[in-house]
Amino acid sequence: MGAPSNVGPHIVEWVREIAAMTQPKNIHWCDGSEAEDQAMRALIVDSGAAVRLNPDKRPNSILVRSDVRDVARVEQRTFICSRRESDAGPTNNWMEPSVMKVKLKGLYSGCMRGRTLYVVPFCMGPLGSPIAQYGIEISDSPYVVANMRIMTRMGAKVFDFIGQDGFYVKCLHSVGHPLAEGEKDVAWPCNPENTYITHFPEERTIMSFGSGYGGNALLGKKCFALRIASAMAAEEGWMAEHMLILGVEDPKGRKNYVTAAFPSACGKTNFAMLIPPAALREAGWKVTCVGDDIAWIKPGPDGHLRAINPEAGFFGVAPGTSYDSNPMAMESCRKDCIFTTVALTDDGDVWWEGMSKDPPAHLVDWTGKDWTPETKGADGKPKVAAHANARFTAPAANCPIIDPDWENPAGVEISAMIFGGRRATTMPLVFQAFDWVHGVYIGATVGSEMTAAAAGTIGQVRRDPMAMLPFVGYHMADYFGHWLSMRRNIKYLPRVFHVNWFRKDADGKFLWPGFGENMRVLKWVFERCNGAATGRETAIGWIPEYTSIDWSGMDFSRDQWNAAMNIDREEWHKELVLQDELFFKLYSHLPKELVFQRELLLARL
Ligand code: GTP
Ligand code: SPV
Ligand code: MN
Repeated sequence: MGAPSNVGPHIVEWVREIAAMTQPKNIHWCDGSEAEDQAMRALIVDSGAAVRLNPDKRPNSILVRSDVRDVARVEQRTFICSRRESDAGPTNNWMEPSVMKVKLKGLYSGCMRGRTLYVVPFCMGPLGSPIAQYGIEISDSPYVVANMRIMTRMGAKVFDFIGQDGFYVKCLHSVGHPLAEGEKDVAWPCNPENTYITHFPEERTIMSFGSGYGGNALLGKKCFALRIASAMAAEEGWMAEHMLILGVEDPKGRKNYVTAAFPSACGKTNFAMLIPPAALREAGWKVTCVGDDIAWIKPGPDGHLRAINPEAGFFGVAPGTSYDSNPMAMESCRKDCIFTTVALTDDGDVWWEGMSKDPPAHLVDWTGKDWTPETKGADGKPKVAAHANARFTAPAANCPIIDPDWENPAGVEISAMIFGGRRATTMPLVFQAFDWVHGVYIGATVGSEMTAAAAGTIGQVRRDPMAMLPFVGYHMADYFGHWLSMRRNIKYLPRVFHVNWFRKDADGKFLWPGFGENMRVLKWVFERCNGAATGRETAIGWIPEYTSIDWSGMDFSRDQWNAAMNIDREEWHKELVLQDELFFKLYSHLPKELVFQRELLLARL
């Protein structure tokens, strides 16, 4: 098989089995080296899928254009194949494992003909950390190899950590587009009609077919670090969450770490790399970034929760990112990046909607066509130059405010957890849960408008519990039960909050400026954790008074504040009715604590 000498026989055997089924032309064992990375990038460029960006503008970076049908996660084609249907629960697609495997076997048979099979060893979390986990992805996509090198600790050293018989998560991926003898490849091979993103939680294996994009194909991310890991975590007493992790430091040098769960494309990357407004910065407030998408959280020996970021890079939403909205994300993607479905400028740089106030006069859009600000789509409306779910893959080490402890194998101590969603109405800017059980209820009932991160309806409010609706690898109600049960294992429970940066007025304008100004809310959160700020008890939780927020350097009137913080009883009654949809669906497994929380809230209202 040509395996390096440190590869365990159990791994060689698995690769042999997969190669026999998929029939690749070659097998390449990835070592994670710079030379290998350059070779992968060259392959992607030569295939016609990518262009090299101007090295003076974006050193060592490429722009990749995917097939127009392969641009986001596909939730309808994502399956949890547990042995019992009730273990997947009503919020996941389910298929009996043996039935799914027969179907997949048919698809995978010969699917790598004419291609190279890459063996990608990777570690989620700092190498050697007690919280870290190992995986091996087999893929026929050089784009996947190049992205996995940024997003995970990828390379030959991982084989040493797995050892001769150690556990690893088997991740099989194919774009599902075999090449016949002499057939010319397309730029972005994929197979949208037969796409399946499948998970076998009991075996802890993943099989993904037909898509080369993002979370569908970079299997360390959502498939492993959330869906499989959440199932492992429930068994083992820890948590795998769709959360950013940030550090906040006050002027006295006291530091707290906070996690926040917002649904896809709802502001995690922005919040994780927040730059406080000038007045607070000058006063000495500082934010550092540990991670922007996933947190693995475990109770530590001292009774506090500790969290690591299992990833090594950011797969961030490009549109809307600018030096105004998120300067640290812009700095993170200055070099060594992969940009996917963004627009290309005439001087060989990238552009996307929101990067600058005025778009360039000419671009090549994400589909490879000429674009000007006047370009219209088939519907007669202005056409976007970058896809709404265009992404940058950037090394976390590029981020100027990456936390000094971001690779601490023991993780960082968590003081607060924040939930949030994208809500035009109902949800005030911020409120705090009364206690852990109330906090779990608040997380379990998060609602959010759907975004372009997943193929489907955009804008419609859906329940997205803990921002994990598409990512829990087992029964959602059992996941709530797991959250509740964590209470017993944590001596010092984090404080729980809910925020909404997206509330709008009657004219559709945001009531809160957001971005860096979110520091003012974060400061109140920090002070609540340290017993330094007051809150007022309301029906839905503790809220800050106007005077509890630091307004230095900002003009925000009491009226504006009242509009952003308004708790409208009629809206909340409707909200409770909307929650029923999820609760009824989950009722047979739903922990009674959550039913009682709902009753108590109704009574308080
Ligand atoms: P995934 O990577 O998909 O999990 O999402 P994410 O939560 O990291 O998304 P990201 O931070 O990239 O969210 C991007 C979208 O949120 C863009 O449309 C931003 O303009 C918007 N956004 C982020 N922060 C704010 C904010 O404070 N206020 C408002 N109004 N919009 C925000
Ligand atoms: C998300 O959709 O939440 C993402 C992007 O973080 S992807 O990795 O494609 O799932
Ligand atoms: Mn995400």
